[in-house]
Amino acid sequence: MKISVIGCGYLGAVHAAAMAELGHDVVGIDVDERKIDALASGQAPFFEPGLPEILTSASASGRLTFSTDMAAVKGATVHFVAVGTPQKPGSYSADMTYVDAAVDGLLPYLQDGDLVVGKSTVPVGTASRLAAKVKDSAPGANLAWNPEFLREGFAVQDTISPDRLVYGVSPDPEVAGKSRALLNEVYAKALNEQTPLVVTDYATAELVKVSANAFLATKISFINAIAEIAEVTGGNVTELADAIGFDTRIGRRFLNAGIGFGGGCLPKDIRAFGARAEELGRGESLAFLKEVDAINLRRRQHVVDLVVEMLGGKAFEKRVAVLGLAFKPESDDIRDSPSLDIAVQLNGLGAIVRATDPEAIQNAHAKHPQLHFVDTVAEAVEDAEIVLLLTEWKEYRSILPQQIEGLVAGKQIIDGRNVLDSAQWRDAGWTYRAMGRP
Ligand code: UDX
Repeated sequence: MKISVIGCGYLGAVHAAAMAELGHDVVGIDVDERKIDALASGQAPFFEPGLPEILTSASASGRLTFSTDMAAVKGATVHFVAVGTPQKPGSYSADMTYVDAAVDGLLPYLQDGDLVVGKSTVPVGTASRLAAKVKDSAPGANLAWNPEFLREGFAVQDTISPDRLVYGVSPDPEVAGKSRALLNEVYAKALNEQTPLVVTDYATAELVKVSANAFLATKISFINAIAEIAEVTGGNVTELADAIGFDTRIGRRFLNAGIGFGGGCLPKDIRAFGARAEELGRGESLAFLKEVDAINLRRRQHVVDLVVEMLGGKAFEKRVAVLGLAFKPESDDIRDSPSLDIAVQLNGLGAIVRATDPEAIQNAHAKHPQLHFVDTVAEAVEDAEIVLLLTEWKEYRSILPQQIEGLVAGKQIIDGRNVLDSAQWRDAGWTYRAMGRP
């Protein structure tokens, strides 16, 4: 299958490389010349485990090329739209500029039988609007919506072996049949491996994606709300999560209390979903997502307050070590990262913050050059009066008190992700505080 992928960010670059890895002929398009130059020379423009390997093998096979010129899509039959839908400045809605520009850019090159496939997370109603646009300009081409559920850090695996496939197709049965056949060819390997497939209408496909993210965000905020109660009662939210998680109706995954969720998806998707519901006159249906968001943001404030408390009432000119800046481990993504937000807030209070991360320093520095970044844990904790573990990278989870206690000025640690052994730190004489557990 000849495929184009418009947008080569965290989603599109992985999708393009994974499709080539599966044996398709792929061209990736992006307006960012630096990104395209990197990808074309086999370099991943961001950190994603497994991506450099498939980029190298796919480029070597000759099946994967990149271009900044939309004309390079000519000859492809399936065109994936994988551009971003960030939060619009000054609003909760999704910014649709990039999706519209991608589809408009594609229109002159569409030929009879081509299929435009939306992957971006969009407000419900977008697919039918774009399908009409495609029909007007290229009557022989069609549109389908095929949401992406990949998790950063596992993006390659999630793309090659997804846990489900969803196709949103046209209400016209003939068009729907053709779209389904083309997508089945694209995803032949996953379908052969019995990956569940849901074929549905446009609106449902769009809603599946935002509902999945809203559910995950709600699950995390639920356990963080319980953590708030545990914090004032002396309960242990981790043991509680284990206990309720044994009920298979509830499940243990996504019940890790901590400093809350971040990233380029969950926060902006719940806001955009709520904003869309309001436009549809159903704001009350999703009003609870505002609470989910509020609980989530309170976790960041809670850590800042706890730091101030542990530093004796003020953070001004106190030395704070921050371990972790990415919104989660195995990623260099700092979009809406709770860890970075906490570091920035403490810096704003006059604390002398020294922050480190295995992969995200460059991105964090570009956005917040006022922070002081260091390469190693040893440099971050040197002379620190308090240490904050904010992103649970493997190398931070395994830190022992003995490794850093000769370096710090004060034996105080906040475990923002509940990943350290509290007894081990207390036994070594540290003041250890965690999220919703003693
Ligand atoms: C998410 C969805 O999981 C994915 O299906 C969708 O396609 C895109 O959005 P991602 O943003 O990569 O993926 O990260 P995810 O692993 O879902 O984590 C989101 C945030 O929640 C992170 O900040 C993580 O630290 C936090 N989290 C996750 C918790 O705080 N507790 C948990 O138990 C799980």
